Amino acid sequence: METIEKKRILSMYQCTGTFTLGNYLGALRNHIKLQDEGYQCVYALADLHALTIRHDPAELRKYTKEAYAFLLAMGIDLEKTVFFIQSQVPQHTQLAWVLNCYTQFGELSRMTQFKDKSAKHADNINAGLFTYPCLMAADILLYQADYVPVGADQKQHVEIARDIAERFNGIYGDTFTVPEPMIPKHGARVMSLQNPLSKMSKSDENQNGNISVLDEPETIMRKFKRAKTDSESEVRFAPGKDGVNNLMGIYGVITGKTMEEIEKEFQGKGYGDFKPAVAEAVIEELRPIQARFREIVADKAYLEKCYRENAPRAQAIAQKTLAKAYRKVGLVS
Ligand code: TRP
Repeated sequence: METIEKKRILSMYQCTGTFTLGNYLGALRNHIKLQDEGYQCVYALADLHALTIRHDPAELRKYTKEAYAFLLAMGIDLEKTVFFIQSQVPQHTQLAWVLNCYTQFGELSRMTQFKDKSAKHADNINAGLFTYPCLMAADILLYQADYVPVGADQKQHVEIARDIAERFNGIYGDTFTVPEPMIPKHGARVMSLQNPLSKMSKSDENQNGNISVLDEPETIMRKFKRAKTDSESEVRFAPGKDGVNNLMGIYGVITGKTMEEIEKEFQGKGYGDFKPAVAEAVIEELRPIQARFREIVADKAYLEKCYRENAPRAQAIAQKTLAKAYRKVGLVS
């Protein structure tokens, strides 16, 4: 008989635009696999976090629905995994308020992302941007998550969530599971195709550097053919060959080949053969997902049913934790 409790994984995704190939290969693809590797997964779209930057309301709504459809198309299995939209589960903002009161001004001021974003959006350094980590801590702690798979840029936020959990538990006794960051095994850090020293990003000004997961095959081919490489022509993984290393990394995670195997495959061939081969691999990887995505988006009723049914599933878990935290701090029930 199965009596071992599964470890719980929680992750959320910002939906301020269409996912990039970097989001897909670096995070989404690996996270979704975890549902078949013996974990209980809870995933959500962090639409409340998206409000911390000026945005277009109609676009946020559209991107949120599309991101939901895309993750379903990728194979999130709603029989096993809870997958919801953050704003549809009010416990997140409720717990976030409490956690705000157990987080210091000083520690929030030291967050790298806050410093970066306030430099970038100097005209809109709002309080939400500042307390963003408290909402994220609520996201994690509400589900008593054991692990949070995140990239390097979010690791500091998981650490502050741990600090907040430990502090709260220290004052009131065991309330929250202290989460650990998890770096998935086959993660890839995908860089811009135009500037291989910076991460591929939805907000890249040069859209040739960024592959969107919904790009047409011809667009993908064109962008890879134009990818920045170097003045050599040898497909070789080496320091300084950042453009080629990035393409090899992409090709490697998709095909499962090692860097050595890729070097062998393209021995005696130049970038003129290699770039279209990488593009082809990406196109074939995305093709079935894009097809499924189009079906889901076309079936509005189905899509709506999925996220509407998942909100109460998430609420049921979240409410238990919220009630406990409220009780501990002395709110009347
Ligand atoms: N801040 C994360 C990002 O920008 C998104 C996020 C919100 C998140 N809440 C979370 C990630 C909870 C992990 C766990 O990518």
